[in-house]
Amino acid sequence: MKRIFLVVVIAVASTFSSKAEEGMLIPSLVKAFENDMQAMGMRLSAEDIYDVNNSSIKDAIIHFGGGCTAELVSSQGLLLTNHHCGYSQIQSHSSLENDYLKYGFWAKNKSEELTNPGLTASRVVRIEDVTQTVLFDTEGLSGQERYAKIQAAIQKLVNDAETGTHYTAKIKAFNYGNDYYMIVKETFKDVRLVGTPPNSIGKFGGDTDNWVWPRHTGDFSVFRIYADQNNQPSEYSESNIPYTPLHFLPVSMKKRTPGEFTMVYGFPGTTEQHLSSGNLKYIMDQERPARIKMREKSLSVIDASMRSSDLLRIKYASKQARIANGWKKWIGQLGGLKTVDAIQIKLDREKAYNTMAATKPEWNDKYGSVINDMNALVAKYKQADFGYSMAIEYLSVGPELFGRAREMNKFLSNYTALVERGELDAEIEKQLKSAKGFFKNYDEATDKRIFELLTEEYVKQMGDAPLPSMLENNSAEDLANLIYKKSILTNEARFMKFMNKLGSKSAKFLAKKDPGFMLWSEANTNFMSNVIPDVRTYRSLMEGLLKTYVAGKFEMFPDAKHWPDANSTMRITYGKLEGSAPHDGMQYTEHTTIDGIITKNNSGNPDYDLLPRMKELAAAKDYGDYAQDGELWVCFTGSNHTTGGNSGSPVLDADGNLLGLNFDRSWESTMSDFMFDSDRCRNITVDIRYVLWVMDRYSGAKHIVDEMTLIR
Ligand code: ARG
Ligand code: ASP
Repeated sequence: MKRIFLVVVIAVASTFSSKAEEGMLIPSLVKAFENDMQAMGMRLSAEDIYDVNNSSIKDAIIHFGGGCTAELVSSQGLLLTNHHCGYSQIQSHSSLENDYLKYGFWAKNKSEELTNPGLTASRVVRIEDVTQTVLFDTEGLSGQERYAKIQAAIQKLVNDAETGTHYTAKIKAFNYGNDYYMIVKETFKDVRLVGTPPNSIGKFGGDTDNWVWPRHTGDFSVFRIYADQNNQPSEYSESNIPYTPLHFLPVSMKKRTPGEFTMVYGFPGTTEQHLSSGNLKYIMDQERPARIKMREKSLSVIDASMRSSDLLRIKYASKQARIANGWKKWIGQLGGLKTVDAIQIKLDREKAYNTMAATKPEWNDKYGSVINDMNALVAKYKQADFGYSMAIEYLSVGPELFGRAREMNKFLSNYTALVERGELDAEIEKQLKSAKGFFKNYDEATDKRIFELLTEEYVKQMGDAPLPSMLENNSAEDLANLIYKKSILTNEARFMKFMNKLGSKSAKFLAKKDPGFMLWSEANTNFMSNVIPDVRTYRSLMEGLLKTYVAGKFEMFPDAKHWPDANSTMRITYGKLEGSAPHDGMQYTEHTTIDGIITKNNSGNPDYDLLPRMKELAAAKDYGDYAQDGELWVCFTGSNHTTGGNSGSPVLDADGNLLGLNFDRSWESTMSDFMFDSDRCRNITVDIRYVLWVMDRYSGAKHIVDEMTLIR
């Protein structure tokens, strides 16, 4: 009997224990994976990777602007991240006279480095498991009582950690509240732009190549952290000096070998590995396809506008990129999830889970119904969740009319208070300035067409769900004609006229007479009363079920590789430098070279435009000593489990030297946000040797290369 039981355990556990590559590990817990990592070739110890008492690789890893990752690469605070992560800073320093987007920028010395108000760079000081303290004495409590107790414990821990330091502490739930960790950070506020390649390198391939392998993008930009005389964070000041890091990454100039160990260290944003089969099915069958369709409609309009004139191309470039980034990722996700039959995989895992729960009454009580409960909850609330997603696509990502209405509503609801405080004129000034910026990148005919198509689609998608009455009673076409003829929100001249006559009755006027504002207002009310309450209930109930479900995985399958879903905290993931074979009859090699840049350029697609210098250097094969066997590597792929937020993360070799900067995933791998498949899922890295080549040979910025420590 006992023997049989053991066999069952092993068989079931193996359906859970994914391949080594899956997972995003908490650095302070990496000791548990040290053996596995060393077996894959790593020559570092867990303490080299993360240590609180001594400097470690952790100290070179930076959360950049809160959304991306960056790494320190010199003793003088030199920081590397992606080009797309520094893009808004690069853009804000660019003008027609100094077109850094088009030609790149390199500070010749430190005094030429450019300041970036608002940009932050944070270092993790320590990560502490505070579960026991946070959950102390909460056994048996529920609802508000439990919540208040937890919040009080968190507040005290945070206060204790911050008092007497210049650090900030934050406590986050992991594993849906089974664990709590405190993350103590040191945040630098003087982060200057040192250099960037031109868009034709940093954004090479544009949207055509986004989420795609083979890739040839030099997606990097260079910053520097400045600190005060005591090496501590400080707001920008001329007297600040380059920050001296506790650790910076040496750079590997060594030959790369397919199969070698790679590790990515950074701040991944969100993954959802524990969704139940019913939930994933809903997302795959209904939610994602509808969102994709909404974006297909707006992109069809935007793309046509952008093709019709240079002015519109420039106006809509960054909006288009934003909408298309998600759209393209989702299509890749659905393709991948269908190909591997993710639903069947989930069903098999759920069966194994339930079978295991049935082996012990105690487990059965705790875990026996949780999967059914999750699926039932999805069935009950999926229309609400769907209404939420559709509202995001329609009201936030859709026609810009709605964004203007939201802005106006915020402003006018403060009107009386602004008058009382004597701040009205200043606020009007601000509104005018922001409107000017908005209309500069807006085209009325384009927005009108987006409105018409998305309104039609939104109404269709919402089916029997309650709609704003204006949408129930009018065709999309009639509404478009009315709104874009009358509304002050959709036309710059009408808007300015309205602002010039602004008075205490303006809000009333908008609410009663402006069809654009009226529609937004109805839609917003509909959203707040018919969607939001259900979505809140749904999310909090689901969070509770996920907590139970995950606890069951821990308890019943102790030998599987468990990892907490990404939540924008610091993580490590490891794998190999390797290609993939994502489709029958098709093999992706693990690296690309500069030759591919020229081949793509020859296709004539403007996303592959180059400046003449690239063609000259490529023709001359002027690779310096950055090549390997006569080839200049540009990008390579690896089986490291990454997601949004990992952009800019260092990809490290077995000794902790920098191989390159992570910046994307192949299309076939974007499913890894839900399910990692070690045969398909590959992260894309720009090789640091190409980065150095661009600095040195292409840009004449060898002094930046000289600041780094090169390992040969
Ligand atoms: N796919 C990359 C990641 O999600 C973004 C790359 C930026 N480039 C672009 N063409 N949008 O963020
Ligand atoms: N491009 C993403 C980022 O910006 C990375 C990814 O989703 O793979 O973080």
